[in-house]
Parts: sequence; structure tokens; C-alpha cells
Amino acid sequence: MDNTAVLMQMRQLIQLLAKHNHAYYVMDQPEIEDSEYDQLFHQLKDLEQQHPDLIQSDTPTLKVGGEAQSKFESITHTVPMLSLGNVFNQEDLFAFARRVEERLPQQKVQYDVELKFDGLAISLWYEQGQLTRAVTRGDGETGELITHNVKTIRNLPKFLSSNDADIPALLEVRGEVLMPKAGFEKLNLEQAAKGEKTFANPRNAAAGSLRQLDPNIAAARPLAFYAYGIAQCQPHHGLSTISASLDWLNQLGFAIGEQHFVCQSIEEVQQRYEEIQQLRPSLKVEIDGMVIKVDELKQQQQLGFLSREPRWATAYKFPAVAALTQVEQIDWQVGRTGALTPVARLNPVAVGGVTVSNVTLHNIGEIHRLDVRIGDTVSVYRSGDVIPKVDKVWVELRKADQDYVQIHLPEQCPVCSSPVVMPEGEALARCAGGLYCAAQRIEAIRHFVSRKALDIEGLGDRWVESLLHLNLLNDVADIYHLHEHREKLLGIEKMGEKSVQNLLDAIENSKKTSLAALIYALGIRGVGETTARMLANSFQNLEALQAADLEALKKTPDVGDITAEWILDFFRAPHNLEVLDRLLAAGLHWDAPTAPTRQPLNGESWVITGTLSQLSRDEATQYLQALGARVSGSVSSKTKCLVAGENAGSKLEKAEKLGITVMTETEFLSLMAEYGQGL
Ligand code: IVH
Repeated sequence: MDNTAVLMQMRQLIQLLAKHNHAYYVMDQPEIEDSEYDQLFHQLKDLEQQHPDLIQSDTPTLKVGGEAQSKFESITHTVPMLSLGNVFNQEDLFAFARRVEERLPQQKVQYDVELKFDGLAISLWYEQGQLTRAVTRGDGETGELITHNVKTIRNLPKFLSSNDADIPALLEVRGEVLMPKAGFEKLNLEQAAKGEKTFANPRNAAAGSLRQLDPNIAAARPLAFYAYGIAQCQPHHGLSTISASLDWLNQLGFAIGEQHFVCQSIEEVQQRYEEIQQLRPSLKVEIDGMVIKVDELKQQQQLGFLSREPRWATAYKFPAVAALTQVEQIDWQVGRTGALTPVARLNPVAVGGVTVSNVTLHNIGEIHRLDVRIGDTVSVYRSGDVIPKVDKVWVELRKADQDYVQIHLPEQCPVCSSPVVMPEGEALARCAGGLYCAAQRIEAIRHFVSRKALDIEGLGDRWVESLLHLNLLNDVADIYHLHEHREKLLGIEKMGEKSVQNLLDAIENSKKTSLAALIYALGIRGVGETTARMLANSFQNLEALQAADLEALKKTPDVGDITAEWILDFFRAPHNLEVLDRLLAAGLHWDAPTAPTRQPLNGESWVITGTLSQLSRDEATQYLQALGARVSGSVSSKTKCLVAGENAGSKLEKAEKLGITVMTETEFLSLMAEYGQGL
């Protein structure tokens, strides 16, 4: 990259970071995850490291944290409130321990392990045991005086008292203000009920509450304070470890973390970290990691600070739930039902503890909504064990000198080259080569042999898998050529002479079928058993159905606009026609379907309910369908007639309310008899 491009990228990142800083610190309405902010920040830091001569004076990398707000009095911290370095994995943690232990030769080092509270750091002054001031961290040097609000925090002592300990003349306690999870949820419910703004997370709720001018508002918010350190104590408390100081603070009336440990080795620290990660959901407060501190205060002093971070402590963050990465490619996958799903191939990135390199983009609509292009920087989000997803495309990070290829729906199936179709109103595009496409093969075969289709009972999943494996079933027409491969069939494990013969017989028997069963067996989208019967009855033969145009298809009872398009697309895909020809050549045959003139109930919607005594519900359904009626599961104003058997319930009530004709079983049977159906 030349200097101009670097400079442009730096400016872009600075602007973005400033925008998100404002949303976070001033508006208390963050728009992105903290981990995403950190990654943008690191991108900028990396650029600055590579091009130190181009560092901008307003870069946020030179500031410690939030902006001090003007609403409150500014206070300069006597002891600056610094930040912590981060580690994200065991390797980094062990490297931290190595650095510590190298500086403390021949000394035993113990580590204090604490929860890393996800709230706001504050400093509290107690003079002669009385809380006299509370100051936010601000930029680490200067913060805001918010004593009026902090005094309303219920679990925070306003006066120190202890049976065992002397009360120091001056004590400066550091800790975190936060909103416990239960209180946060309650507050958000109340805010929503009042029509007021809800908070993105407990930390922002805490921040928003502390930044109120009116202490009554803060008082009404369920805030809590947890202490984690002492900045000053006069006279000195005489304690020698941070863990002992925490217990002392606790004795003085301060809440400390639900858990803290002293570990004898860094391996034990790692174990505790893993334990706490498991416990995290059950803790009362939100944490974003652990803080690891050298326990011995004298050793802390020996280690000192490096720039603005202590060498004696580090934050061990939990894995990010969102991360930034680049889209390298977008491929289309064809599912077993022919649906085309776009999959983004990513530059591998760790999200929530696992490496993510592929992520589904669901459908072409999602691609347009996100405007995701090849080369884009994207946020990948994963919470709990939920499948990762692309959350956001960082259009702002597109570089002027790079091409970002837009994604279009392919015209041909990437597996079988059949046309790709997507009727209006549908979200998913599909391959039209249902009978031919290798991706859809298993599903197509299963459906073809199922009971209501060609009904080849012997051809179960185990057979299908073995046959696919032997390359004997490339499409459904191959079923009728299996007899040519008897030897290979006999070679399949556990398939003896008898089972092979049974299979071949079942296949032979299936050749005599009905036009409706064959149409159903083709697996055309939207064409179920009833629609297939309607199509068979309306068109009478396969040639007429194949030649039908959209209008003719739409006129068929039970065929909606979208299904009509699917049917048309199916017969337009040349590969499907080839398979169909081969099926017919293999000898599939059927009797002519019932003539359309014998369909007096054409297009009517009927419902059957209750228990029938003289025939089964399936039989009743078949009679009705043979006469052209649709049999539906629920009563609506479109229902023509309800057949009510014994113990008919709510459907009968509804039909009566809507004034729909109701028939008893006997009445139904005599009507069927009039039309020549039934007993
Ligand atoms: S000790 C020299 N202990 O983490 C700094 N900090 O980046 C010593 N935090 O904003 C800080 N839980 O407010 C410490 N148990 C804990 C903590 C903790 C949360 C926050 C702290 C600061 C940030 C450090």
C-alpha cells in the first residue's frame, strides 16, 4: 500500500472508532460488540506500527479510554487509573507468566485470580471512614465527580466500620460499578413498559445510570459496587498480598467478587479460568474474563509498569463472540431438496472459541440485504453454540483501489448445470434438475420409491446407499436397469439371492402404476399427492401435461401460481425430460385416469372430522378426491361441506358458526353412491 492509501485507511479507522466511542461512552448505545471495537483498534495500531511517520494526532490509540464528560466536575486522579494488558489463550497466558517469573528470579510467584467485572471502573475516597468522593476512570488521568450518584448504590458502604480492623485516615478503593443481571433484566422490562429506551447490556445500563444529573434516577437503578483494589491507604494496612487486601476490604463492608482464588502455578490459573468460563452463565454479574494478578504486593512493586499497564497483572479475556474477517469467496451449495445456499468462505477467524472459515449466507436476499461482496471485511457473530453468522458488512472499510465483486444468483446449478429458478415471492432459488441433479439424488430416489409414489417397498435406504456407492443409481430411471447388474447386486454384503430377487420383482411390479402416482413420484416442488391427482385428471396424459402452458396449469384445481411455475420449470429442464423418456422406455404404464367429466366436485374444499364407522378417513378422502374435491384439515369460509362423524368437536362448531353445510356419515355415503363412488 502506498502512503496515501495507508493514510486514507487510518483516517477511516479513526473516524469509525470515534463514532463507536461516542455511541458507547456518550450515548450508552453501543452499535457493535466490544471485540469488534478491539479489532478495529488493533487494525489501526498495526498500521501505526508499520508507518509510525503517518500517526495522526487525534488517534485513539494514544488515549487510555473514555472521554470525560462535561456535565460533571473534572477530578485528576492522584494515582492514575491505568488499564490492563490482555491475553486470549493459554499460550499468551504462559508467556505472561514467563515474563513475570524472569523478572523475579529465585522467587516463588503466586497468582491471585479474580473475576473481570464488565462494568465501570471508579475510585472511592474514604476520609476518616466516610465516603467523600467518587470519581469515574475517565481517560485514566482525569475523571468525573459522581459522588451524588454513587452514594445511592445500596451495597456500597457510606461509612466504614469493622470489629477487627482499624479504620484508615485515608483509603482510596478501586472497583467496578455494575448492574447485576437480574436487575438489568427487570430494568429493561420496566423501561419498555414505560416506553423509554432499553439498554443494550448491563454495562451500558450502569454507565447511563451513573451519568444522570439527578441522583433520584441512579437511586432507582439496581446498581452494585464490587471492590478489586486499593490505590492508597494511610496509614498502610500492613497486608502483604492482594488476596488478603480483598478479604480486608470485604471485612470493611465492601462486596468483592463471588469467586477469587490464589493459585500456586500458572497451570492452576488456566484450570480456574476454564472452570469460571463454565460457571459464567450462573454468576450474578456479567464478566468478560478473569484478571490475573501477582499476589505478593512486594513483587508487584518490583515488577512495576510498562507504559500504561502493570507488568504484574493481565486480563485473560473470554473468547470473542464476534470477530472481523475477510470474505475470500462465495460458493453456492445445492441441498438435497435442490435449494441453492450461498456459503461465504472466510479468512479463518476465532469466534467464541472455535475457528470459523465457512458461514452460510442463507439466500440471495440476505446477500443483497447485507450487500456482501468478495473481499469485504465482515463481522462474524456466534453466541453460545449457535451457528456463526455474518452480522454486518464493513462497507466503510472498502479500499478505493480494490475491486469488490458483487454476487449474483447463478443461472445454472453448480452441480448438474440444470437451470436455476426462483419464482417471485420465494426466498430460495432451486435447481430445476430434480430428477437428474447429483446433489438431490438421494432425496429424489427416496421419494420416487415411497409408498404413494412408485411404491417399491424393497428399495429401502440401505439398498439405496449401497447402489449409490456402486454407481448403479445415477438417477431414478436407473432403478429399471438394475436387473442388468444382478452379479454386482449379489456382491453387496448381506444381500443374498433371495433379497436380490425380491428387489427385482418389486421393481418389475412397480412398472404398472397410475399417472397420478408417476406425477407425484417426479418430486416436482409443490406437487403433493392431491395436486398430482388433479393434474392427472385434468390433463389425462403425460404429453399434455408436459406441453401445458402457465395459464393451463393455473386453471387446474389445487395448483397455485407458484406451483404452476415450478411445474413449468420442471418440464423445461432438458435433463428431467431425458430421465422421463428413459422411465417410459423402461416400460412404466398406467390405465387412463378418471375422465374430467366425472368430477362433479371439481375445485371444492371439503373437511372430514370425527370418527367414521363404515369407512376409513383415507377412503373418504380418496372418494372425494376422485370427484375433484380437495380435502383440507381445517374449516374456513371457503369450506364447501363438513363431513361430521362421531364425537366431532371444534370443527363442527366452527362450521355451524360459519353456516357451512354439515353432513352425517350416512348422508355422505349416499351422496358418494349417487356419484358411483364407494360401497
Ligand atoms: S485490576 C492497573 N481487577 O478492567 C489496573 N480490574 O483494563 C488494575 N476490571 O477498567 C485493574 N474487574 O475496571 C482489576 N477484578 C478486577 C477487575 C478489573 C474489572 C476492569 C477495570 C479496568 C479494566 C482494566
